Amino acid sequence: MMLLIPLFFVVYLATHVNSYGQQDPLGTLYRWRQIDFAFPTARHRQLFLQNGQFNQINVIPLGVERWKDRLFVSTPRWKRGVPATLSALPVSAQEESPLLAPFPSWDWHTAGNCTGFTSIFRMSIDHCGVMWALDSGQVEAFETPRQLCPPTLFAINLETDTVIGRFPIPSEFVLQNSLITNLVVDTRDAQCKDLHVYIADAWRFGLIVFRESDESFWRFSHYTFYPEPLLSNYTLHGLNYQWSDGLFGMSLGQMNRGDRPLYYHSMSSSLEFVVQTSVIRNPSRVNNAVDEFKLLGESRGLKGQVSASAIDRNGVMFFNLISLDSIGCWNSRKPYEIENLDIVAQNNNTLVFPNDLRIDHEVPQIIWIITNRLPMYQFNLIDPNQYNYRLMYLEPNTAIQNTACQN
Ligand SMILES: *[C@@H]1O[C@H](CO)[C@@H](O)[C@H](O)[C@H]1NC(C)=O
Ligand SMILES: *[C@@H]1O[C@H](CO)[C@@H](O)[C@H](O)[C@H]1NC(C)=O
Ligand SMILES: *[C@@H]1O[C@H](CO)[C@@H](O)[C@H](O)[C@H]1NC(C)=O
Repeated sequence: MMLLIPLFFVVYLATHVNSYGQQDPLGTLYRWRQIDFAFPTARHRQLFLQNGQFNQINVIPLGVERWKDRLFVSTPRWKRGVPATLSALPVSAQEESPLLAPFPSWDWHTAGNCTGFTSIFRMSIDHCGVMWALDSGQVEAFETPRQLCPPTLFAINLETDTVIGRFPIPSEFVLQNSLITNLVVDTRDAQCKDLHVYIADAWRFGLIVFRESDESFWRFSHYTFYPEPLLSNYTLHGLNYQWSDGLFGMSLGQMNRGDRPLYYHSMSSSLEFVVQTSVIRNPSRVNNAVDEFKLLGESRGLKGQVSASAIDRNGVMFFNLISLDSIGCWNSRKPYEIENLDIVAQNNNTLVFPNDLRIDHEVPQIIWIITNRLPMYQFNLIDPNQYNYRLMYLEPNTAIQNTACQN
């Protein structure tokens, strides 16, 4: 029985995609064989290359966000030679593989200067135009990790391009070997006054909550933040590896009777869970909410690992199926069951390891995806002659046509 469910899922979804494959609404805005940066001068670039501050093969894009006419891409300092960790790009593409322009300027990218950025993983932009960026504070995680600064949440005003807040996560909420890797911002009022940020610790299985009004943090632990043993054994394009990543993907549902659900999952897992945000926004519930974290429906099966996910204005969740080279969908008005899950895009070349996924604040909304072959990067198998990194987009309403996610 355990084996039938995953096979059914893969076969069912694969047939669906074949019948509608020609309508594939997925587009590639940018693609890179190797990432390069807009250095002040060619001489700066040459110096950085000579002294090892820039080593192209070690630069990988991870997070993506969009605000108006710009996209933002993070490049974490996981291996030596990443000269900048957050960059901007135009939404209207002029070229296929543009240089990344460090944001807001090169001055912010000196590793070890804790006023500036060390290693940014992901960003979440609120509807008032503030980008919340999660900085691990650590360099060379894939080599010899060094914690240069505390993990920090930065707030950057995108109208003025100024850093308006810097909130180090208090050490009591950062455990040994924590990997604080993902975030989602929750704003409800027009002025973004009642703002919270939910932050996932994938290696020490915690959910950290930040409340802007008094700049305070608290942390929940729960057994649903753990990985599943069998789902920690991955095989992707012939590469077998083991990742035991816990709490990772988080997406906010629609407001319903004054409350709002947070859907979440571990990366090495086939299950989706849900908690009401009224629970996690209340610090007095930290040790008193075990039954509030609930399983949502059915398992996605043995190839059902998901990295990032997000929900659009119509209540449709989109999620990166990292072992299936696919983007999945689920209409949150329907039960979370296999027959209501579907695939909106699948490609064994362009969608190898879809890593981040965000939905912007525009009308109509656009889904933005970074695919980055992360397992190949980890094991030094990136082929610099191939296109390895892509910034892709998907129009949600077109994507769900003729799928189980339509209303
Ligand atoms: C550290 O970074 C900040 C922000 O970019 C900058 O203003 C400051 O001058 C830097 N400090 C040093 C010592 O480099
Ligand atoms: C992990 O996956 C590999 C490749 O599919 C397989 O040979 C191995 O038996 C799996 N290990 C476990 C514990 O399931
Ligand atoms: C990708 O899919 C195509 C078409 O289904 C298939 O011919 C090809 O072998 C696949 N390539 C890989 C690397 O899986």
